[in-house]
Amino acid sequence: MDSQSLIPVADRFAPFGTTIFAEMTALAREHGAVNLSQGFPDFDGPALAKDAAAAAIARGDNQYAPMPGIPELRDAIRGWFGASSGLDVDPEREITVTSGCTEALAAAFLGLMNPGDEVVVFEPFYDSYRACLAMCGARARFVTMRRGDGRYSFDEAELRGAFGARTRAVLVNTPHNPTGTVLTRDELELIRDLCVEHDAIAIVDEVYEKLVYDESTPHIHLASLDGMRDRTLTLSSLGKTFSLTGWKVGWAIGAPGLTAGVRAAHQFLTFSVATPLQHGAAVALRDGEDSVRELVAHYRAMRDLLGEALARVGFGVWAPEGSYFIMADHSAVSGRLGLRDDVELCRHLTSEVGVAAIPPSAFYHDPADGASAVRFAFCKTEATIRAAIERLERGLG
Ligand SMILES: Cc1ncc(COP(=O)(O)O)c(C=O)c1O
Repeated sequence: MDSQSLIPVADRFAPFGTTIFAEMTALAREHGAVNLSQGFPDFDGPALAKDAAAAAIARGDNQYAPMPGIPELRDAIRGWFGASSGLDVDPEREITVTSGCTEALAAAFLGLMNPGDEVVVFEPFYDSYRACLAMCGARARFVTMRRGDGRYSFDEAELRGAFGARTRAVLVNTPHNPTGTVLTRDELELIRDLCVEHDAIAIVDEVYEKLVYDESTPHIHLASLDGMRDRTLTLSSLGKTFSLTGWKVGWAIGAPGLTAGVRAAHQFLTFSVATPLQHGAAVALRDGEDSVRELVAHYRAMRDLLGEALARVGFGVWAPEGSYFIMADHSAVSGRLGLRDDVELCRHLTSEVGVAAIPPSAFYHDPADGASAVRFAFCKTEATIRAAIERLERGLG
């Protein structure tokens, strides 16, 4: 008997089913498409991190790490976060190493939210956010980011309206996947004021914190704003910044009370993170500045190369301020081809043009809000981006 018929998936996960991503990945493989759908690099991370992890394995650092993370890595995170935020945090009581930002998110929600609590969530959202809310029984109040003035942002009145008596947290992602928006100081100050007014905390996903492309739009840590140090949980990870997404080393930084919640869940979710990889991560954060600089320069060039090509073949493109995604408008292209929405467009791109992308409607609670957009990842080698451009020009030009 098929085990699936013995017992169904638990109710809390039933709404998430099999995602469109699985279909797109299978389709991309079937058609040998250049894959600009997946948000991970097709090149390797820096040698200094890999060598440090390999050395840790060779010297026998292979047993369980301490539950909150090895001291060397927590010290490195303190220095890394301090350098860009100006905040000094206590590695003993305020930093927890997690299995990627994904586990940090789950630990934050499971450790700090109760059923019925409300969380303000910006959409389009990263796909694990809704599942985290479902796991802890919290309710989302969505605020939709919309395009205007060349970037996606939110409406002040809509954000104010989403906060209420049951609000316990706001979930912020900056730089933002998939829109590429880097929230400005004004936008962050509004979020700060609402958190203070409603006595809510902010959970900030900063996995793209270093992937910002213009001096005029720097990444600002919400935790560094007056009044936010003790009501912010800052979550990040090594994956995007050091092209080591498969290591799944992340962290949560927050005042002792918030850290207690994160650790309450973390100790039972994973307990601790792979010891040798923590050693590699510590070296990357301490000594990896040059590799970050090179990576950002490469991504800036790929953003421009791909963005200009997409515009040439008819997409509406707004250069992202950060992250490694371009969220383009496909209305003109789809109109020409007689396609109805983002899913049809992505199927066509993958099977007929040979370039895989992501349909963003899956990132909205009402899919119609994402139907005219398409997400391309540019975290690839120049050869991959050029191969994609050639196909787009041949197939759509
Ligand atoms: C916004 C956002 N948050 C979190 C993650 C997951 O991070 P990690 O791989 O460190 O778990 C991703 C990965 O794509 C992401 O885009």
